Amino acid sequence: MAIKNVEYGLDKIFEGAQDFLPLLGTDYVELYVGNAKQAAHYYKTAFGFQSLAYAGLETGLRDRTSYVLQQQKIKLVLTTALKAESPIGEHVKKHGDGVKVIALWVDDARAAFLETTKRGARPYLEPTEERDEHGVVVRSGIYTYGETVHMFIERKAYSGVFLPGFKPWVSEYNPPSVGLKFIDHMVGNVGWGEMNTWVNWYESVMGFVNFLSFDDKQIHTEYSALMSKVMSNGNGRIKFPINEPAKGKKRSQIEEYLDFYEGSGVQHIAVATDDIIETVSALKARGVEFLPPPPQSYYNEVPSRLGIHKSQFKEDIETLKDLSILVDADEEGYLLQIFTKPVEDRPTLFFEIIQRMGARGFGAGNFKALFESIEREQALRGTL
Ligand code: FE2
Repeated sequence: MAIKNVEYGLDKIFEGAQDFLPLLGTDYVELYVGNAKQAAHYYKTAFGFQSLAYAGLETGLRDRTSYVLQQQKIKLVLTTALKAESPIGEHVKKHGDGVKVIALWVDDARAAFLETTKRGARPYLEPTEERDEHGVVVRSGIYTYGETVHMFIERKAYSGVFLPGFKPWVSEYNPPSVGLKFIDHMVGNVGWGEMNTWVNWYESVMGFVNFLSFDDKQIHTEYSALMSKVMSNGNGRIKFPINEPAKGKKRSQIEEYLDFYEGSGVQHIAVATDDIIETVSALKARGVEFLPPPPQSYYNEVPSRLGIHKSQFKEDIETLKDLSILVDADEEGYLLQIFTKPVEDRPTLFFEIIQRMGARGFGAGNFKALFESIEREQALRGTL
């Protein structure tokens, strides 16, 4: 892997990535849920999202309701079915609440559809123009792993609040933000032996590169193991690690996910903050549940494990310990991260909060401590 100099602000340019599909960033993430009104309340109250837009019966829809929430660059769409006979309802019945759409912001949604489908992508939505008094949006979509979809969103001729068909959602209930800024990466769990299929798919269909890999020798505990490869688009703004389970003495967290999601899907959404101590303190105060802390020895070993003297951390290690925030490092710096418990009753989708202090990795040094923590949770659920 070769990384050129930083050219576009924080972006890294990956050689080997192809630019037939220029992606400007993540546009939105849409979850299909059982009750979008209550889910929206949860993400506002617990995670500090702000009300942005709404579509439903009042805007002329008959089959669904969607609430759009925003926090800095992150847009979360929560959609629920209004009738039993509905692809949205079927999705929720099978998978529970989960990510349906990872929408990618593009300059040309028609070209994105053409370029990916001619490379073998399965179509989900043919290029479609939608317009209202604020202009026009072109959307198209393709399937990725499981029933998950990538939508391409072209909004250069649109000035409305979200998409045509949505009205601004003005609410009197506006809990403050917790400082979540943008989506750092989104991880997919795929079935046994399928990781390389999807790595190849992201390479050949999307022009991504595989820039980090972890095998089951690196990611294992006494009981379980997994393999992971991280895919990135050319400008480094879109990063999708892909996990598959590996054989261990007991059932790994990836198998648990696949069993309860009933297939491949998004495992976690990692969101970036500039001040993880403030963000995590606020999230905890608002009732967000995080994985149990690593063993106490973890924090004593941080400086020696990472080869970084305590004084080189901007943060006080005692404070990180009090909040159970994990620390990892690579040649370029360190990172701080913490993982929520699943945000629904099925042990499926969860969130990661991450603050990068130069490091570009994904916390491989924490995998063991993290997975042992997850295994303790699995044991309580009887799914280890
Ligand atoms: Fe992650």
